[in-house]
Amino acid sequence: MMKHIAVAIDGPSGAGKSTIARLLAEKFHLYHLDTGALFRCLALYAEENNLDINDPAAINTILQGAVIKIQVMGKDVRYSLNNSAVDKSIRTESIGHSASLLSQNAAMRNYVLELEREFAAHNNVIMDGRDIGTVVLPQADVKIYLDARPEERASRRWQDLNQQGLECDYTSVLNQINQRDFQDINRLLAPLKQAKEAVYIDSSQMDIQEVLERISAIIQPII
Ligand code: DC
Repeated sequence: MMKHIAVAIDGPSGAGKSTIARLLAEKFHLYHLDTGALFRCLALYAEENNLDINDPAAINTILQGAVIKIQVMGKDVRYSLNNSAVDKSIRTESIGHSASLLSQNAAMRNYVLELEREFAAHNNVIMDGRDIGTVVLPQADVKIYLDARPEERASRRWQDLNQQGLECDYTSVLNQINQRDFQDINRLLAPLKQAKEAVYIDSSQMDIQEVLERISAIIQPII
């Protein structure tokens, strides 16, 4: 039997962490936990209930009202908010921005931290986020810091949005990426940073296949 495995992938917004983590999960039979989705669920709750996330009272309302569950369905990991399956509605730019702001709060982080650790205690996992290697799973078997230049991340995101038929302007996508980086790197609690032991990969000049091969070579020996 495979030993209990934990792989941590951290990095800034738009570096391709989730895509790569999903492919690696499939390849190595791990469960992929997208931890950004958990913060996005909290932001969705705030949006659905018209809560102003800058108001400290909103944090208590969220803590009392939002019940997030992580469920394993076959090979997939699904998220639910108050028993409703969470879908694409958490993927909007405005939810991402609110998630980033909410994630600065200690109570929000602790709520998510418990879910993350509970999941990792029972499953072989590849988790992607901002603080997985530094805070959530400091004992992870493999730690990766996946980076790419902001201009490159913005251009990938811009292409994605265009392919989905969503009109957008490159400069505003780049500004959003820079703002998100600033918030995630400069917050006091569990900021985005490379764990000491993490392998740093700059994917600016690499395609998905190359990144996949590079990280696979790091994971393979521990499986
Ligand atoms: O990866 P994402 O864009 O879905 O994450 C949304 C926000 O959630 C991100 O800007 C900061 C926060 N987040 C976090 O603080 N810690 C994590 N491990 C994952 C996400």
